[in-house]
Amino acid sequence: MAGFEQLMLGTPRLLLRPLADGDAAALMAIFSDPAVTRYWSAPPWTHLDAAHAMIERDRRAVADGDYLRLALERHEDRALIGTCTLFALNPQSRRAELGYVLSSREWGRGFMHEALLALLDHGFGALALNRVEADIDPRNQASARSLQRLGFAQEGYLRERWIVGDEVSDTALYGLLRRDWLARRPGPAPSTPAS
Ligand SMILES: CC(C)(COP(=O)(O)OP(=O)(O)OC[C@H]1O[C@@H](n2cnc3c(N)ncnc32)[C@H](O)[C@@H]1OP(=O)(O)O)[C@@H](O)C(=O)NCCC(=O)NCCS
Repeated sequence: MAGFEQLMLGTPRLLLRPLADGDAAALMAIFSDPAVTRYWSAPPWTHLDAAHAMIERDRRAVADGDYLRLALERHEDRALIGTCTLFALNPQSRRAELGYVLSSREWGRGFMHEALLALLDHGFGALALNRVEADIDPRNQASARSLQRLGFAQEGYLRERWIVGDEVSDTALYGLLRRDWLARRPGPAPSTPAS
């Protein structure tokens, strides 16, 4: 896939943009919070090196179009409050997986819903995806509700799919099709490269 370096998406309260060097401290604050990583696929970060490594990994991946992670930067104060990602991109099947994380200080204010509306519009529009999947811990009710509100349906239940530290956990697999998205979203259809 083409690179995503120049990609920026705007929402009423947020700028979605690739990670930058100055984001390490804000990422560390988010990913070192055990409340945030409770149902995450990795334990909380304990060292700033992990933040620098994520930024460096993203620089290469975003340039190569391997995955698309965008920071949620709030217009009001330019604070980085979370990230959202389309990854495991499969060009042949026009499929990707969705991931997202928000600072616990910002939960309950609709920021992630706003960001994911823009990211999914871009995914089903410019990226011409046909299907987006999300793999979540079935106990993660805030995440499940967030997906349901966007129109995702639970399609599967995979037992003991993750082992993080000593904890074994299951997966609830959610899916959203392009035609479901187009049927639900308000306003004109997002433009695809072919349209
Ligand atoms: C998932 C996440 C982004 C959701 O963001 P948020 O700002 O908390 O979302 P909201 O407050 O709008 O909550 C979403 C819905 O879940 C509900 N909810 C929130 N916490 C809940 C809980 N503990 N139990 C049940 N429902 C809950 C809310 O009422 C809301 O429902 P509604 O849409 O019907 O009003 C955020 O919780 C987060 O970053 N969690 C940590 C990272 C994570 O788990 N990411 C997903 C991994 S795949």
